[in-house]
Amino acid sequence: MATYNVQVVTGKQIRAGTIDSVFATLVGTHGESPKTVLDNWGPDFYRGAVHDYKVTCEQDLGEIVLLRLHKEAVCNVLSTSWYCSFVTVSSHKGEVYRFPCYQWIAGSDTLELREGTAKTPAMDTHPLLQNQRKKQLQQRQSCYEWKKFAEGIPFHLDVASPQELDTNIRFSFVKAVDFANRSKAQQVELKLRGYSTSQESWEKLEDINKVFLFTETDLSRYVVKHWKDDAFFGYQFLNGLNPRMIQRCTEIPSNFPVTQDMVAQSLGASTTLQKELEKGSIFIADYRILDGLSAGINNNCQQYIAAPLCLLHLTAQEQLMPLAIQLSQTPGPEAPIFLPSDPEWDWILAKTWVRNADFHVHQVLTHLLRTHLLAEVFTMATLRHLPMCHPLYKLLIPHTRYTLHINALARERLISEGGVFDRATGVGLQGLIELLQRDLKTMTYSSLCLSEDLEARGVSSLPNYYYKKDGLKIWAAVESFVSGIVDLYYKDDRSVQDDFELQSWIRDVFMKGFLQQESSGIPSAFKTVKELKKFFTMAIYTSSAQHSAVNSGQFDLGAWMPNFPPSMRKPPPQTKGAASLEDYLDTIPAINTTCTILSTLWLLSSKSPDMVRLGKYPEEHFTEDAPKGLIEAFQQDLHRISQEIEERNKSVSKLIPSGYEYLYPPEIENSVAI
Ligand code: FE2
Repeated sequence: MATYNVQVVTGKQIRAGTIDSVFATLVGTHGESPKTVLDNWGPDFYRGAVHDYKVTCEQDLGEIVLLRLHKEAVCNVLSTSWYCSFVTVSSHKGEVYRFPCYQWIAGSDTLELREGTAKTPAMDTHPLLQNQRKKQLQQRQSCYEWKKFAEGIPFHLDVASPQELDTNIRFSFVKAVDFANRSKAQQVELKLRGYSTSQESWEKLEDINKVFLFTETDLSRYVVKHWKDDAFFGYQFLNGLNPRMIQRCTEIPSNFPVTQDMVAQSLGASTTLQKELEKGSIFIADYRILDGLSAGINNNCQQYIAAPLCLLHLTAQEQLMPLAIQLSQTPGPEAPIFLPSDPEWDWILAKTWVRNADFHVHQVLTHLLRTHLLAEVFTMATLRHLPMCHPLYKLLIPHTRYTLHINALARERLISEGGVFDRATGVGLQGLIELLQRDLKTMTYSSLCLSEDLEARGVSSLPNYYYKKDGLKIWAAVESFVSGIVDLYYKDDRSVQDDFELQSWIRDVFMKGFLQQESSGIPSAFKTVKELKKFFTMAIYTSSAQHSAVNSGQFDLGAWMPNFPPSMRKPPPQTKGAASLEDYLDTIPAINTTCTILSTLWLLSSKSPDMVRLGKYPEEHFTEDAPKGLIEAFQQDLHRISQEIEERNKSVSKLIPSGYEYLYPPEIENSVAI
């Protein structure tokens, strides 16, 4: 006779418990135990329960490799889902096996769990285990299927609505309630105040401030005061919502004929445009990707899009100041070059057009495509090609939490026909799709890797670029963690090439995410350990830090709508001297459009009540000491970076409230979850 102690841990989250019956079958290298009911005196599998049970067999089972958990509904009407965290099995000989579960079981069902040691396919020699990982992937591939959203755009999970999502990839109860309450509270508040139905222009600029009387932040208040300042306009290219637009300019582009005379006043008598170009102090933001894009219709009115060019100067005081703005890619008498010396409202309007272009590039490309949609591709490939015992599943899965759910919600409410994007932005749904297609066609792997992107834009040495500074530190920490994990399971390049599950993973990412575009530089197969490390670093960085950098400040910087206008109701000015405050108010979004966008930005900037910070792994998928040690080292690295940022922010906050916090590790979520 052999007796095993089976300790079952039920999750602590709301509704994790069940009154259904649970049975266990232990599977060892020498045989299987009988299916044994796990039943002690009193309730067993309530929320947070940790209980021990005995499973007795006629003979020793050898090494325990699998555990089957069978849940049987006592009665279909009363049956509830059960969330099992993990199970520990101790043998009479003192061996201890830990089985990570971290899954919901609904109705009557059986889950087959592997002992927690991470294994690539080559490490699994037992046919039973080889078969188990194959079966798990077959089941996952039928559950998580790809669907095309539109031609030329990354594929996504095939679900018609968020309600269809499988429990294991859904928001927790707490997050779902919080999300629903926030959405409703905003709508009700705005309706009561009559804002959400008015298609009128704002009567006074100050009135915009009344939309969110109770939800201001230090930074949103700062924006209200400083939105017209050229220095703040320049600062946002470095540390605002879209910090990847700015590039060093070594030669004035032929379609943007800025002359020495035009910028002489801004540059001062001691220098010239040519000298500053040679010094490397001239920068440019070029929104040519928006050129000729079809504009949408809001409130039954045609909207307008511009594709501006903005020239900036890094001053001796290390401030990035705008020098000149042209609102069209085609120069000529109808595309005047606006200057800081122009009449006040001409210059403000020109800068506002740049901010509107930035809104579109930020929301559609920097945020949606380059974080949300890519993170969904990584999530899908992980679920479809890496079984739970795979070391890279264990590494990636915490960085996919809630991604499929938030993206399904976005497809239902934001990027759908009649959704927020369609009715409240300048491009509408059609323009959004066109813009995604344009960017995906030319998107490179390099542009997703921070240091390569900075190098290509010529901005590696730009001062006060906190997005760059903090990002490079976090990238290095992620890289060191990923390298450590990869080195534990891949001894050489051959072991990478032979991992057919991993090869299917990257193949799917290449095919469904990057649509087989070899010009992107995205690999279609991994040949070396080095390639694998780089790609997984990029995937984790994109899903966590990069998303935080471009998501968290949406309300801070967008609440004062003129700083981040979603749609323009009049065409870009073709002459100077015609702009006025009245004309400005008739150009920026109407009252209801402002409210729609501001509620959305507020919702999307809010922190989840059950947020998991970067580097925290409350679910212990790795059970061995070595990867656990690497997790600890990663957390220490992030802690050190946090302290450095806190110190730096003490001086920055004298200029900008709170300093730069979008890449402060405690504020970064592990995954794209909002
Ligand atoms: Fe987001």
